[in-house]
Amino acid sequence: MNRSTEVAQTIVAQISDPHIKRPGEVAYGVIDTAQALGRCVQFLNSLVPKPDIVVVSGDIADSGRDEEYRHFQELMAPLVIPFVILPGNHDDRAAIRRSFPAAADLRSEGPLNAVMRLDHLVLVLLDSSVPGEPHGFLGSDTLAWLDVRLCEDAESPALIFLHHPPFVTGIRHMDVQNLRNADALAEVVARHERVRLVAAGHVHRAAFTLFAGVPAVIAPGISHAVALDLDPAGLPAFRLETPGLYLHIWTRGDVTGQLVSHALPIGMFDGPYPFFDAEGRLR
Ligand SMILES: [Fe+2]
Repeated sequence: MNRSTEVAQTIVAQISDPHIKRPGEVAYGVIDTAQALGRCVQFLNSLVPKPDIVVVSGDIADSGRDEEYRHFQELMAPLVIPFVILPGNHDDRAAIRRSFPAAADLRSEGPLNAVMRLDHLVLVLLDSSVPGEPHGFLGSDTLAWLDVRLCEDAESPALIFLHHPPFVTGIRHMDVQNLRNADALAEVVARHERVRLVAAGHVHRAAFTLFAGVPAVIAPGISHAVALDLDPAGLPAFRLETPGLYLHIWTRGDVTGQLVSHALPIGMFDGPYPFFDAEGRLR
């Protein structure tokens, strides 16, 4: 998937929290999440160069219904880039297994963890969902599985994706739903220097920190944002802010490589306007 022999780049797009409803329904009485996903797909298709893969970091469906996953697949059908999904707290593992049999592992139940290689990168998708609960938790089986996966192919940088952030954001009503056993994940991550990113969703807004010494992000939502309310007594609320996504770009150098994450607003904006005129003068 390298585009040139001079610069080896791998581009991983991360979109999050589509919250797809059944056709004709809106979320929370206001949000046309299907329209938002359609706009996001169009935007992804317009990128040059195209990302190599799209990771959808949870809350695929709003209520975990089969019809919602069917609707999601219909809306994603025009996407010209391969995509992978992981579950969020609004999802249902059994319904995902029915709707995406190729994405699920062979077990009939349990967490939907996955690992894949993409050029020089290894992507690890963790299932932090807890059936029937809004908060996140990684079971001991998932943590042991992660440790084993990170011992394999140890030369390749690894990016970890999961729905629930393993760190607080200051938005109290969301922080109480975070990954409850973040310390256990940190222990595993800290054992493996090859982990270059921990990327979550759930909060529907871009945020950055360090986690176990590794850059960690939350992806913006592709339709609606959780309101940034830092009052500990603040009530759960959302805003229709400009939606966004990440492009995580791995550039391989002679000896090592570098990961850069771009947060992009989704939309068609005026431009690009060239800085220089035909004679090479700054306009
Ligand atoms: Fe969500």
